[in-house]
Amino acid sequence: MKTTVVFLGLTTIFLQNVLCTDFQKVYQWKQLAHRKQEDTARSNIVFREQILPQQSSFNESFDSYNNIPMGVTHHKGRLFITIPRRRPGVPATLNVIHMEKVAKDEQSPPLDAYPDYIINQLHNDYKADLKRIVSVYRSKVDACDRLWFVDTGMLEYPDNPIQVQRPQLWIIDLSRDRKVRTFEIPESIVQQGVGMASLVVDVEIESCDKAFAYIPDLVQGAIYVYSFEKNRMWSFNHSSFSHNPERANFFVAGQRFQWDDGIFSITLGKRNTTWRPVYYHPMVSTSEFTTSTATLQNETLANAGGYESHFQSLGERGPNTQSTMHHHDPETDVIFYAEVNRNAIGCWNTQNNFTTENHDIIQLDHKGLIYPTDLNADVNGTIWVLANNLPTWIYSRLDVNQFNFHVWRQTPRKAIAGTKCDLY
Ligand SMILES: *[C@@H]1O[C@H](CO)[C@@H](O)[C@H](O)[C@H]1NC(C)=O
Ligand SMILES: *[C@@H]1O[C@H](CO)[C@@H](O)[C@H](O)[C@H]1NC(C)=O
Ligand SMILES: *[C@@H]1O[C@H](CO)[C@@H](O)[C@H](O)[C@H]1NC(C)=O
Ligand SMILES: *[C@@H]1O[C@H](CO)[C@@H](O)[C@H](O)[C@H]1NC(C)=O
Ligand SMILES: *[C@@H]1O[C@H](CO)[C@@H](O)[C@H](O)[C@H]1NC(C)=O
Ligand SMILES: *[C@@H]1O[C@H](CO)[C@@H](O)[C@H](O)[C@H]1NC(C)=O
Repeated sequence: MKTTVVFLGLTTIFLQNVLCTDFQKVYQWKQLAHRKQEDTARSNIVFREQILPQQSSFNESFDSYNNIPMGVTHHKGRLFITIPRRRPGVPATLNVIHMEKVAKDEQSPPLDAYPDYIINQLHNDYKADLKRIVSVYRSKVDACDRLWFVDTGMLEYPDNPIQVQRPQLWIIDLSRDRKVRTFEIPESIVQQGVGMASLVVDVEIESCDKAFAYIPDLVQGAIYVYSFEKNRMWSFNHSSFSHNPERANFFVAGQRFQWDDGIFSITLGKRNTTWRPVYYHPMVSTSEFTTSTATLQNETLANAGGYESHFQSLGERGPNTQSTMHHHDPETDVIFYAEVNRNAIGCWNTQNNFTTENHDIIQLDHKGLIYPTDLNADVNGTIWVLANNLPTWIYSRLDVNQFNFHVWRQTPRKAIAGTKCDLY
């Protein structure tokens, strides 16, 4: 196995020098900073003593080390950065960078809360407030200029997790910076929101009201489907949504660990007349699976059950290809994978048969791509990647004098040039 990986790595480096273009580094940070730190401290991001009895002197204020970026989404010059509240001291879980306002030589711009600090703020007593956002992992922008994300409603503080409120699906119109709608995810769908770490939106620009969101739950092993038109949600479960215990070993940046994350990422292939193929995988797995939007959109079927055969395995991607997020590019028909066990970005052209041999690596970086946590595309098709060193943050200690967080971008065509995914 090891030999294969090394060999693949060398091949890719060789190819990159000759043919395909490296991803471009957009920003990098040692630690995150917030522009309005002082304002935040003044405006009450503190918790009363009795909430945290085991830490009587605890008082929450900005703690840069605890701010670990998990998601990046680009839209027309704005970069949305999400920071789930997994430790205290996160002033805003949803943040933005106005790229045109960043100085040319600035590689570590500060973040602003989005839409503002108030909406991102927790109440002193952790009172539920569905007008506010508690914790967000990743977001997506759809063809209709809307930002979609799930607020898990949960503070995942070690030893003291708090479900502040029900998880909610949020939809924000980015052309006006106005909330379109929130949808409170009912208990009949799921008890806790903590497994909803990503989502994908299925919509055509001609019919924005006919949007669907498909939300994987990596904890429950479920896919939740939200219909914007019906304003309803339903749920599918399947054995392929669970992690594969045989792929649970990770070795990243010197840390050995075992995880059990189930279904993590969903991406949609090319539409035929009406339906699109759906590709998905658990994070702890090296297999890719498929179904159809015809299945997911069928609420009757979801409730009736007996749909096991609608979810199928495509096959093995290859050794050590465990992946967080993946994305299908409609122009090249290529799927891009963020690969955590190889510090890499992988690819497969959906016009090729699904085999291990037809998968390739297009970028490999043992410094800048440690734990690629997010990978998605903007309306122009440009791919954006965020790597955040998560295993070091969890199991060891980040070196705050090194660059720990990196944002990358590249166009699909340049990224695949000369690889097995380039059929042109
Ligand atoms: C928390 O900080 C606020 C503002 O600085 C202060 O008024 C309050 O006494 C602090 N509470 C605790 C428990 O330290
Ligand atoms: C799916 O959910 C149903 C109802 O909750 C349960 O009976 C069934 O065992 C679940 N199937 C799988 C594969 O988890
Ligand atoms: C469209 O795709 C669906 C599933 O993805 C498939 O069942 C159907 O046969 C396809 N229709 C056509 C016209 O190819
Ligand atoms: C939805 O699923 C049900 C139950 O399997 C089936 O009878 C129905 O034809 C499906 N609806 C659509 C639109 O495919
Ligand atoms: C895909 O696999 C099928 C059956 O194994 C084979 O006939 C076909 O030639 C393959 N197609 C490509 C593009 O390799
Ligand atoms: C993205 O596409 C829009 C038009 O669709 C264009 O105005 C803009 O310049 C493009 N941006 C980039 C970075 O290519």
